[in-house]
Parts: sequence; structure tokens; C-alpha cells
Amino acid sequence: MAVRVVVGTQWGDEGKGKYIDMLAKESDLVVRFSGGNNAGHTIVADGVKYALHLIPSGILHKGRTCIIGNGVVVDPAVLLKEMEDLSQRGISTEKLLISDRAHVIMPYHKLLDELQEGQRGTANLGTTKRGIGPAYADKTERCGIRMCDFIDPEQFAAKVNENLVIKNQIIEKVYGGKGFSADSIIEEYSGYVKLLKKHVTDVNSIISDAIEEGKNILFEGAQATFLDLDFGTYPFVTSSNPVAGGVCTGAGIGPTYIDEIFGVLKAYTSRVGTGPFPTEQNNEIGDTIRELGWEYGTTTGRPRRCGWLDTVMIRYSARVNGLTALAINHVDTIGKLDKIKLCTSYRKDGEVIRNFPASLKELAKCEPIYEEFDNWVEDISSIRKFEDLPANAKKYLKRIEELVGVKIGLIGVGKDREQTIRI
Ligand code: GDP
Ligand code: IMO
Ligand code: MG
Repeated sequence: MAVRVVVGTQWGDEGKGKYIDMLAKESDLVVRFSGGNNAGHTIVADGVKYALHLIPSGILHKGRTCIIGNGVVVDPAVLLKEMEDLSQRGISTEKLLISDRAHVIMPYHKLLDELQEGQRGTANLGTTKRGIGPAYADKTERCGIRMCDFIDPEQFAAKVNENLVIKNQIIEKVYGGKGFSADSIIEEYSGYVKLLKKHVTDVNSIISDAIEEGKNILFEGAQATFLDLDFGTYPFVTSSNPVAGGVCTGAGIGPTYIDEIFGVLKAYTSRVGTGPFPTEQNNEIGDTIRELGWEYGTTTGRPRRCGWLDTVMIRYSARVNGLTALAINHVDTIGKLDKIKLCTSYRKDGEVIRNFPASLKELAKCEPIYEEFDNWVEDISSIRKFEDLPANAKKYLKRIEELVGVKIGLIGVGKDREQTIRI
């Protein structure tokens, strides 16, 4: 049996979906533990593309039990649409389970996300405007609505009415927006309950039984370490804990049960949304990476900011997540550049530093120190053994391992789930 976790080590979109899908084949249970439909995971299976936002990427493998854990925030309309889209493509979501403790994204969360971003003006966080932040804020404020309340008409009506007293005042008096009618929300959501009720259950006991029975469980990370509320580039982060520790609180298992933690990274770096990015190439190099790697958001379609791989970040991720292996993608993409740069450390106030600072003011003073590598232009997408990679690619990958101090377990040489080297 194995309990595995897949997490992002950068700012998201590292290609987690591809590996989750691959490892799901060997798992009985696939569990999402954080975030919501701010995530966008792309899987290309036998040339067919799928984009998943809320449903665990394991759904593409028949017979896997897919679970949305308590740490996830769920927009019922989005979930139903995703279920419908999958079933139209012949993929069953019958075995999808949702934690009765997961919080529900409400219409006022989405409106508030938008109004708050508008209010921040040029200092906006570049959120996905899916209501993620306001839903998690309500969770900690202790006025959130959980799945167990959502499926109980009396509780749901009481909580919606109670919440709207405050939410409508904030929307109308602070932001000058238009508030909501409790009745229309209750009516809309009661339609969703009819379709989702049978999927809502105490998933925590299912996960713990599976551990006891020695089953293979895969915890699917969304977002990434540098978007983590505690460890990311705060405040330019999301509102949950996508790091490996989030598995314990977002699915309800003890840390001692986890066997392997895969940290996914790209052979370069990308970021969507605002916030610091030390190795960003806001120039022709960044544009070339974007076009070669097709770096456009899976969720919002926004062009992603691109730059060189930063091993200061990956070292920090290795530590914070306790990574047991690295999974590196887009080795095919980066090889096509004329010269490749790898950030090994930063120079700040005349000193060489190897740690990622908490203060964004300090981070702004950090200048990346690079090593330069020769490229590999040949098509590597059909290579399945590390030894068969071009010498320059092997040199680049070995240096990453050395700088990060964690072995590479998986190498992505193309979009398709088969285009992977497993070490
Ligand atoms: P996730 O959110 O971490 O699952 O990643 P996304 O799906 O948002 O973004 C990753 C993008 O890179 C997707 O378009 C993938 O199809 C693509 N991708 C993943 N791995 C590779 C790879 O090794 N090579 C290439 N060329 N594309 C890849
Ligand atoms: P996956 O799982 C990339 C970013 C948003 C924004 C910040 C806060 O596909 O890797 P939010 O809507 O969460 O309040 O936005 O976080 N963000 C992501 N960026 N990939 C993601 O998920 C992201 N989820 C959130 O762009 O900068
Ligand atoms: Mg993504």
C-alpha cells in the first residue's frame, strides 16, 4: 500500500494534473484536499484533452473512488457542470464523494471576490474571482455554510438568512453593489441539492478505512507552495494551504500515514496573477517560453508570466513539503531556447542568499544569480528512459537535483500522460 501526495512547488500550473492522472491508475482513492475551482488541471490522455477544476483528476480512470475533502471549497453549480461535461464525454462521476464538512461557495462570495478586487485597484491580487477567498474567510469567521448544512433545507435557509443580514450590508453600503434575496438563493441551491445530495457523505471515515485496509491513496494537490496562505508570497497567495501539510487538515489524516510526496515543477517558472516573481523574464525570452509551452491559464485563459527556473524556490518547497521526489515537466519546452538559465541563489545587499525571504520588500531587493546551460533542440517527446535524453538535458536535470537536494522521480517530455520518463 502507498499513501502518496502530489503538490505544486511554484505558483501553480506545474502540470500536477498529468501526474495525478498517471498515479491515479495505481490508486484506489484519489482525494482533493484544498482549494476550489480556482484550480485548472489539464490532462491529455491518448491525444484527448480534459480540463478539470474541482473533480479529482483520477476520475478519468474507471472504478477509482474520487473524493472532495473537507479542505476544499465547493461551488455546487460549477461542480454539477463539470459532472455533466464529463458524463457527456462518457466518464462516470457516480463514484464521486464530497465531504459533509467541505464549505460551500455562495453567490455573495463570488460577488465579494469581484468587488474586493475592484476596490484594490492596481494593487489587486489577480484572483480567479471564483469566490475562493471570501468562502475561506467565512470558514475562519465561523459563518461558512458546510455541505452538511447545504443538504439540510432548514439549516441552509437559516444560515443563508443569517449571513445575508451582514453580507448585503457590506455589498450595498461598503461597495455600492446590489445585495441578494435569500429566497432566490435558497431556491437556486435547492435545485443543486437534489442532484448532489447522494454524493455528500462522511468521507473522512472512508479515507481512514481505506488506510486501514492497506489501499493505495493519492492526495491531489491544487495550487502550489508559493500560493500557500502561510508559505507563499503573501498577500499574493490563495486562501488555503496547498502544501503537503494541508493533506492532514484538508482530508483528516495524520502525517504519519503519508509515504511519498511528489513536488511538481516546470523546467522554468510561470505565474498567473499579480505578485513578485524574481526570475521573471518580462521580455522576448518570457514571450518565447509562453508560446513554446503554451502558457495560458486553464481556468481564466490569462497569459501566464514566464521566467527561468528558480532553485531557491524549489529548495524552499522541498523543505516545507518534505518532498520525497521531484516531478519536472516541460523539459521538451525549455530545451528549445537558445541558452537556458538556472537560478541558484540570490544576491541581496551585496550578500549571496539561498533562502526565500518572507518580506516582499526584502524579496524585491533579491537579484537572481544564474548558471547558464546549453540547449537541446531535438524532439525528446518519445524518449522514455533518462539515459536516452540528450547530454545537455541530463546535465541540466542533474544540476537541479544537486541544488535542490531531492531526486527527480518523473520527467515530462510532452503534454500527453504517456510522455513521461519514470525513474
Ligand atoms: P496543473 O494546474 O498543475 O495541473 O497544470 P495546468 O494543467 O494548469 O498547466 C500545465 C500545462 O502544461 C498544461 O497545458 C499541460 O498540458 C502542459 N504540460 C504538462 N506537462 C508537460 C510537458 O512535460 N511538456 C509539455 N510540452 N507540456 C506539458
Ligand atoms: P492550479 O491547481 C495558478 C492564483 C490566482 C491569483 C491567486 C489568488 O491550476 O495550479 P484565488 O482565486 O485563489 O483567490 O487567486 O492565486 N491561483 C492559481 N494560479 N494555478 C492555480 O491552480 C491557481 N489557483 C489560484 O491566479 O494569483
Ligand atoms: Mg492549472
